[in-house]
Amino acid sequence: MTITQSFFATPTIEYIKKLGLDKSDSNFTILLDMFMQENLSVDIRREIVSSIGRQKDNDKIYEFLSKEAFNNHYMEVIYQMFRTCLYKAKQDVKFAILRDKMLAHYQNEVMQKMFEYYEFRQNKKQVKTRQRQILKPSLLIGDNSISLNKIQEQQIQLVFTSPPYYNARLYNDYKSYQNYLDSMNNTLKQCYRILENGRFILINVSPVITKRAGREFESIRYPIHFDFHKILCESGFYFVDEIIWIKPEYSVPNRIAGYLQTKKPLSYKPNCITESIMVYRKNSPFLLDKNIKAYDKNLKNNEEVDSTNCWYIAPKSDRNHPAVFPEELCAKVLKYYSFEGDVVCDPFAGSGTFGKVAKEMGRIPLLCEQNLEYAQKLKQRGFDEI
Ligand SMILES: C[S@@+](CC[C@H](N)C(=O)[O-])C[C@H]1O[C@@H](n2cnc3c(N)ncnc32)[C@H](O)[C@@H]1O
Repeated sequence: MTITQSFFATPTIEYIKKLGLDKSDSNFTILLDMFMQENLSVDIRREIVSSIGRQKDNDKIYEFLSKEAFNNHYMEVIYQMFRTCLYKAKQDVKFAILRDKMLAHYQNEVMQKMFEYYEFRQNKKQVKTRQRQILKPSLLIGDNSISLNKIQEQQIQLVFTSPPYYNARLYNDYKSYQNYLDSMNNTLKQCYRILENGRFILINVSPVITKRAGREFESIRYPIHFDFHKILCESGFYFVDEIIWIKPEYSVPNRIAGYLQTKKPLSYKPNCITESIMVYRKNSPFLLDKNIKAYDKNLKNNEEVDSTNCWYIAPKSDRNHPAVFPEELCAKVLKYYSFEGDVVCDPFAGSGTFGKVAKEMGRIPLLCEQNLEYAQKLKQRGFDEI
């Protein structure tokens, strides 16, 4: 049956879809002619490509795609051509070859992602259910870039941490800033490996300043979060959000005093009342919905919601550790980025605030700490060394 529409009218999406469903030779010809018309909208042209892809004759489809896939079309239209190649690649090798040629030609990250999604869907029936390795609050003692080797891949559902500040506190001794970043990079690679596909890593950082050697020297201020973005991406995570932790002004070091005395331009140094919580997701060939659907659909956060990316929380001081998380911060992170029963990891645990709150909220914490004194205290608080 041939489905007709007035030749001069702009084809509608509905009409093109109908042509796609009815796979007669004559409809194929109409679709090809239609594609050659000028002044079609991107949506219409893309729909035509989709209907051509649904036809029976693979040779004709291939002939069309191999001619048009490298022509000057909008990327939405090219993506649709690429999708046809993805779907047909398993049945017919010439589509796989064309798919690979398109990938090489366009070097486009959307197409790369489409390819990964498609491959994942093809292989997902073969994925075995993973055995849980961590069933109770646990502790790894030593350098996390080594100790985390004990953890199998994809065992963790959330990582939240505040890494050691480069030269800002007593417990650090990095030869250079680059040496510090390299060390952080090693830890992030481990985090990527142990994190379940599609899950989140949150890193709390703020710029640090190194002490100057004397009044005649300048101190150096490092924007740590800018550099963390780079190493997070290199490790395989992608940027999702930046949450700004805002502290009361009385609680932060006073940098503005000098300026207030002199009022000289250029000497302005505002008090820093914010820290970054960098939110990244492990690159995965599926949408977040898949992670959410793995849980009981009745599990929801019914309490009050933080509707902006600014969280107002007072810092906490502790006589046992110089840089502890406020419990409220950990509770928010756990509430928004994990479910009850999840295994959550802080690779730079310090006093273990995150682990403590995680236990209270029904998660299973895995902590790492290299300082033996802190590690001993964590053991006393019920984190069993593994
Ligand atoms: C900023 S503190 C974390 C404080 C923690 N958020 C809390 O609430 O107590 C960083 C901690 O990481 C530890 N650390 C530094 N490098 C480490 C490494 N490579 N492996 C394991 N722990 C490390 C330090 O000993 C320090 O206790």
